[in-house]
Amino acid sequence: MKNKKIALVTEAGNDLGKQFAHILLENGYEVIVAACSDSLENLSQDKDALLSYDLVEIDFTSEQHLYILKEKINNTYGKLDLLINNAEIVNGFGHKIDQLDVDDVRKVFEINFFSIIKTIQVLKPLLLKCASPRIINITSSLGDIDKMKDENFCYYDYCLTAYSTSKAALNLFTQLQTKEFESSKISMSSFDPILMENCTHNSATISDAIKNEFISLLTTE
Ligand SMILES: NC(=O)c1ccc[n+]([C@@H]2O[C@H](COP(=O)([O-])OP(=O)(O)OC[C@H]3O[C@@H](n4cnc5c(N)ncnc54)[C@H](OP(=O)(O)O)[C@@H]3O)[C@@H](O)[C@H]2O)c1
Repeated sequence: MKNKKIALVTEAGNDLGKQFAHILLENGYEVIVAACSDSLENLSQDKDALLSYDLVEIDFTSEQHLYILKEKINNTYGKLDLLINNAEIVNGFGHKIDQLDVDDVRKVFEINFFSIIKTIQVLKPLLLKCASPRIINITSSLGDIDKMKDENFCYYDYCLTAYSTSKAALNLFTQLQTKEFESSKISMSSFDPILMENCTHNSATISDAIKNEFISLLTTE
């Protein structure tokens, strides 16, 4: 156990998070999956998954939960090699400006953006205990301003204001942190899990090409 790399996937009870967790297991990581509400319930009943993962309950919007998670990882593993920020929420599909509920937008930012900043702040000391720690923020092309300006882009007409802006904020945050972390051991990157060539709207499938791209990120300097 001591020599194994330790990875945390924030929220892996659903779709893509579960697949990231599987890829990490296949690549020799000890995987902690952190879930809440429905997905925690689903994972708790998945006996096969429980044999492979360390399942912990967490609401990533709770600072108290984050500190409990840090203590648990520290006590069990003593370090964290890889943090995958995957948890998300989406709301307000198709809502135009007059339909937008600012409280709903805030809720999306709370999990898709603010909780990621807080998670990194809390878990950074455990990452710094490793030789080559990594953070991968799962993003979306819906948060890529250049792509959203391109009329030929398959999501050009998608109107998901809160989600898109939260991912755009995450993309810039990732860029800023990458620069800040250059002088430290931590490497940080974004990862968009959807293959644009196929334009897989709301897909829960990771193609082989995307899987390979994700695996290559685990070793890239
Ligand atoms: N699917 C796509 O087509 C697609 C495309 C591009 C990018 N992505 C990105 O890929 C990642 C995974 O997407 P997905 O489609 O697999 O998402 P998903 O099915 O919605 O899963 C996200 C999970 O986050 C959890 N979550 C929400 N709030 C939480 C909180 N406060 N604390 C802990 N967990 C919380 C949800 O838990 P509950 O189930 O308990 O509510 C849910 O299981 C996201 O970052 C997304 O932006 C997805």
